[in-house]
Amino acid sequence: MHTRRKLNVCLAFGLASLMMWPLTTHVTIPAHAQASYQATIAIRLDQPRWTINRNIYGQFAEHLGRLIYEGIWVGENSPIPNTRGMRNDVVAALRELHVPVLRWPGGCFADEYHWRDGIGPRDKRPRRSNSSWGGVDTNAFGTHEFMDLCEMLGADAYINGNVGSGSPQEMMEWIEYMTSDADSELPNLRRRNGRIKAWKIPYFAVGNETWGCGGNMRPEYYADVYRRYATFIKNHSGNHIQKLAVGGYDENYNWTEVLISQAGKQMDGLSLHYYTLPTGNWEKKGSATQFGEKEWHTTLVRTLRMDEFIQRHSAIMDKYDPQKRVGLMVDEWGTWYDTEPGRDMGALYQQNTLRDAVAAAINLNIFHKHGDRVKMANIAQMVNVLQAMILTDKEKMVVTPTYHVFRMYSVHQGATMIPVDLSAPQYKLGDASVPALSVSASRDSEGRLHLSIVNLDPNQAAEINTTIWGGAIKNVTGEVLTAAAVNAMNTFDNPNTVKPAPFSGYKLEGSQLSVRIPSKSVVVLELR
Ligand code: AHR
Repeated sequence: MHTRRKLNVCLAFGLASLMMWPLTTHVTIPAHAQASYQATIAIRLDQPRWTINRNIYGQFAEHLGRLIYEGIWVGENSPIPNTRGMRNDVVAALRELHVPVLRWPGGCFADEYHWRDGIGPRDKRPRRSNSSWGGVDTNAFGTHEFMDLCEMLGADAYINGNVGSGSPQEMMEWIEYMTSDADSELPNLRRRNGRIKAWKIPYFAVGNETWGCGGNMRPEYYADVYRRYATFIKNHSGNHIQKLAVGGYDENYNWTEVLISQAGKQMDGLSLHYYTLPTGNWEKKGSATQFGEKEWHTTLVRTLRMDEFIQRHSAIMDKYDPQKRVGLMVDEWGTWYDTEPGRDMGALYQQNTLRDAVAAAINLNIFHKHGDRVKMANIAQMVNVLQAMILTDKEKMVVTPTYHVFRMYSVHQGATMIPVDLSAPQYKLGDASVPALSVSASRDSEGRLHLSIVNLDPNQAAEINTTIWGGAIKNVTGEVLTAAAVNAMNTFDNPNTVKPAPFSGYKLEGSQLSVRIPSKSVVVLELR
């Protein structure tokens, strides 16, 4: 039995209030009327804040497991329908997400990747051991293929350079190869390899996790290494590169302090990595699919730590960069579970459930809240690895609950953040508790207001009274993502177990909006 939760259970009240709601065309009372709790939301349209950088919806694609090879790249001769080697089903699904920026080639792999291996005729490219994640990399997917993928997706390229086993010269030459229009050796090599026009590369990182797999450096040493390498990141032919430095992880605040104080002037962004493990224990992280309310709760408690980490890393950055010129780039985040029994440990393949959808939505709400400092975030990772958007099995493909959240939330990309005052009870289990709701709002360039609401409580619906300051609404539409079980998932045989449905659990009277959000759900409303 679950520990008895102390949340204000008000079944009787919830049912009574449902019965008072007039049955207009605007109202659909969910058939599964559940116990509920009360909450209020005040949307402060009168206090618009920063632009939510669309790069917060960034993705990450590493040469790891079946992400690049099979997940994206199948080769031109594959029976799987493809365009220039990239599988059509995956590209079409990703296009729906409006992926703004894509990080590549790692991850840990970035610090063992030598770009010259991945250019020129594919049959002449060297096969290399992937010493970070196992297996052999054919190098069939290299710079030209990555840039082709970015163009197919309409995404900006974020290239992660090799510091751990590379040199400033190798990094400098890669950038010249990609971005220069000059009549010189490297751009001419690019032209001979089939690309006439220089590419735009807006983001380039100097190494990855240089405190760990990227070289096991001390922050003082890396700060100098960063300054040296960053000097050789040159802008060619009108391309402008934002230079990104490796930042800290979790509570590693000293790394941030040293980097921003000693190299802040040379960087445009500093990264932060944080993964959510249900147990917090890297040796036994917890199952992706076999879990109950206890693991649901601990996962959400740990997800919410992102808020604390961003606040504290940002506060350090504020001391040296009060103008917030340097972005905090959360370029690795997401859930990380134990490898499924029987699967390759190094491939980091995991299933994805309703819990992942809720965790994704909470994280995105947190990034919006800190959008004055958080300028990019890249979920780990795009296909078949960790908290993926898409899973494949040879020719089969399925989109995950996390994919649906990214699609529903895409309305917030580039919109103006609108503060929301929330009053909600705590969702408690054992000694730990979290707010039962997570919310975020934004107004887009056409004046549409979008309100995202996540109900963390897996047992109770939320009855929410909403007021809007500084505006009026006449029309409400929306979508809801939920399922019968906390560990509901999409499989190749049952791909639609978790999918969004139109949301009609609202009542609009004048400017007074009441909504009933099902337990364990993500809702995105459009208010006009
Ligand atoms: O995303 C998987 C790995 O996690 C990345 O390669 C590394 O940067 C991090 O430790």
